[in-house]
Amino acid sequence: MSRVLVTPALPYANGDAHLGHLVEHLQVNTYVRALRMGGDDVLYVCGIDSHGAGIEIAAKKAGLAPEVYTEQVRRRQEASFARFLVGFDGGYGTTHTAENEAHAGRIWQALKSAGHITTKEVEQLQDPADGRFLADRFVKGTCPKCGATDQYGDACEVCNSTYRATDLKDPVSVVSGLTPTLGTSVHYMVTLGAYTAPLQAYLATDGVLHQSLQNFLHTWFGEGLKDWDVSRDGPYFGFKIPGEDNKYFYVWLDAPIGYVSLTQRALAAADAVTKASWQDYWNDPSTRIEHFIGKDILYFHTLFWPAMCMAAGQTLPAHIRVHGMLTLNGHKMSKSRGTFINADEFAAVCEPQALRYYFAAKMTAEPQDIDLNFEDLTNRVNADLVNNVVNLVSRSLPLLHRSFDGKPTTLPEDLSALIHDVQEQSAQVEKLYRHLDTAGVVRIVTELGSRANKLMQDSAPWALVKTDPARAQGILTTALWVGKTCLALLKPILPDVAARLEDMLGVQPFTFHTAADPLPVGVALKPYEHLFQRVELKGLQALIKPTEVAAVVEVVEVAASKPAKKPAKAAPAEPPAEIVFDDFAKVDLRAAKVLSATAVVGSDKLIEVKADVGGVVGERTIFTGLRPHVQPEQLVGRTVVVVVNLAPRKMAKFGISHGMILAVGEVPKPLFVDGAMPGDRVS
Ligand code: 2FM
Ligand code: ZN
Repeated sequence: MSRVLVTPALPYANGDAHLGHLVEHLQVNTYVRALRMGGDDVLYVCGIDSHGAGIEIAAKKAGLAPEVYTEQVRRRQEASFARFLVGFDGGYGTTHTAENEAHAGRIWQALKSAGHITTKEVEQLQDPADGRFLADRFVKGTCPKCGATDQYGDACEVCNSTYRATDLKDPVSVVSGLTPTLGTSVHYMVTLGAYTAPLQAYLATDGVLHQSLQNFLHTWFGEGLKDWDVSRDGPYFGFKIPGEDNKYFYVWLDAPIGYVSLTQRALAAADAVTKASWQDYWNDPSTRIEHFIGKDILYFHTLFWPAMCMAAGQTLPAHIRVHGMLTLNGHKMSKSRGTFINADEFAAVCEPQALRYYFAAKMTAEPQDIDLNFEDLTNRVNADLVNNVVNLVSRSLPLLHRSFDGKPTTLPEDLSALIHDVQEQSAQVEKLYRHLDTAGVVRIVTELGSRANKLMQDSAPWALVKTDPARAQGILTTALWVGKTCLALLKPILPDVAARLEDMLGVQPFTFHTAADPLPVGVALKPYEHLFQRVELKGLQALIKPTEVAAVVEVVEVAASKPAKKPAKAAPAEPPAEIVFDDFAKVDLRAAKVLSATAVVGSDKLIEVKADVGGVVGERTIFTGLRPHVQPEQLVGRTVVVVVNLAPRKMAKFGISHGMILAVGEVPKPLFVDGAMPGDRVS
C-alpha cells in the first residue's frame, strides 16, 4: 500500500470559495477518493493561506482583526467545500498556527545555515496615501517584458514572466488608485541561483511536471534564477522573522510550509487513523507527495518551494500537478460582468455533484483552461448522466420490483459481448483516475450506459414481461448491473450517488475490484429511491447577475434589440454590489465626440453614431438604443462617455457596435461631458 500525501493549493483567506477554487478542489477530491478506492493510504490536507498584506487590508475593510477575519473566512470556505463533498484530514486548517511558525523558523534556519540568505537594500513602492510599503499584489501596471496592461507587481499572467513591482510600467496602487512613490528598505533574499543545478535535475525527473510546462522552465532557467525577496516590512500580517523587530516572512515563504504544518495537524487530530509523524511524510522518500496547483502559481511551486525543501533536507514533491484556469461561458470570471460565482450560490441552484461530474467530464492531466458553459453542463448532466447512466437504475429497479419482487437473476448468456465489454472497460478505469484522465472515465461509462439503454429500448422488458418473463428479468438485471457498475466506477466523482446506491443494493462500499461484481441473484433489493436531481438551466443562468455597469449595458442593449413596453429602469433596486478597484479599472471609459448620428432605418430604437474617441482608438461606429429618449440631431457635436473596450456586438441585422454610450437616469439620457477632449479617460 503506497503512502501518499495530497494537497491542493491553499486558498487565500480573503473571500469565499468560488467556482475557480472548485476546479482544483473537485479534481483533487476526486483523485483522492479514487486513490483510496484503489487501496492507497492517502493523507489529504488543506487550509487557508492566511497571511499577507492583501488579507490584512481585507480584514481592515471588514472592520475585524486579521485573526478574527481569517477564522471567519476559514469556516465559510470549509462549509462551502463540504457542500461539494470536499473535506480534509484534520479539518480545513490555516497557515496562521504555532506549528507553521515553527516550521517556517526551521526552514529559515536551514537556508541561513546553507549560506543562502543575503540582505539587500531594496527599492520599494510606497502608497503615497499612508506610506505603507506596497506588496506586489497591490501594484498593477504594464508588464515590463511583454507590455500587457493590468498586470500585478510580481508576475505577468500573459507571458508568465516574473519581475519586481518596481519594474512595472505605469504602476498604480490597487489600494488607493494613486501612483506609488519609491522608498528603500533592507530585505532578506534567498539566493535561488545556488539551487539551479539541483532544481533542473529535479524538475527533469520523470513525472514531476507535465511535459507541456517545460517551456516555462527553459525560460526561467535561461534567464538565470533571480534572488528571491522573502521579507516584508511591517505592518504586515504574518510571522516575524526570528531576531527582527519589524520584518516579517513574505507570505509566499510560509504558505507552502503550510503543507508541512497541516500534515502535522492532521496527524495529531483526534480522528487520525495513523500514528505516523510529519517526518514520515516529509523526511521519508518512500512517501509520495503530490501537489495540485493552478498554472498561475507554477513559479512558486517549481522553484521556491523545492529549493526550501532541498535546504531543509525534506522529501521533494513527486508530482506537481497543474490544471488550467476556469472560464465561464468563454470568459474569465469577472465581478464587473456579474460572472464571479461563489460556491454557495452555485450549490443553491444546482446539485453540487453535477459540477463534480461536469468538471470531471472535461478534465485530464493536460493543464489546459476549462470552460464552464451552463448549457453544456445542463446537457451533459441531464442527457449523459441522468437520462443515461442513472436511468438504467431508475427504470430497471422499479420494474424488477413490479414483476419480480425486486430480485435480480443471472446475466443472460447471449449478452456476453456487452457483459464482457463492461468487465473489460471497468478494469481500465482505476488507471485512468490515477492518470487524472477523468474525461476518459466519463467517456467509458457513458458509452457503456448507452449500450445498455439501447438494449432496454430494443427489448422493451416492460412489455416482454407478459410473454417471456424470464427474459424480461434477465434484461432488467443486465440494465441494473450495467447502471450499478457505471455508478460504482463514478464513485470518486459522485460519492453521494454511489453511497445511496450501495445502500439500495445492500452491498459493501464499491471498490474498483468489486465495481463490476454481479448483483445478488434472488435477493430482494430495496425499492428505488431518487438518485440525482436534474439541472435547471434557468437557475444557473440566474447566477449571472448584472452589476451597475452591466445594468447600464443591459438597458441600452434591451432597448436596442426589443421594443420595451415602458422605459427601462436603470436605478438598482438593491444597494450596489461591491467591486474591487481592479475590477473597475478593467472598464475603459473615454470621452468621445459625436461626429454624426443617424436614425437606423427599420428600428425605432437605434441610432448609428460615428464618434471620435481620440488617440489610437480614433473613429468608432456605435449603435445606441437611446432613440426613444434622444433624437439623433441632439447628439451631433456633443461629447459623450463611451465604454471603448467592450467586445464588438452585433446589433440584430443592422451592423456591429464597437463600444457603448453611457446613459443615466430612470428614463436614460446620454451622459454628456462636453468640456472633455476626445480620448480623455473617465476615472
Ligand atoms: O494563489 C493562491 O491562491 C495561494 N494562496 C496559493 C498558496 S499555495 C501554498 F503555497 F500555500
Ligand atoms: Zn508579460
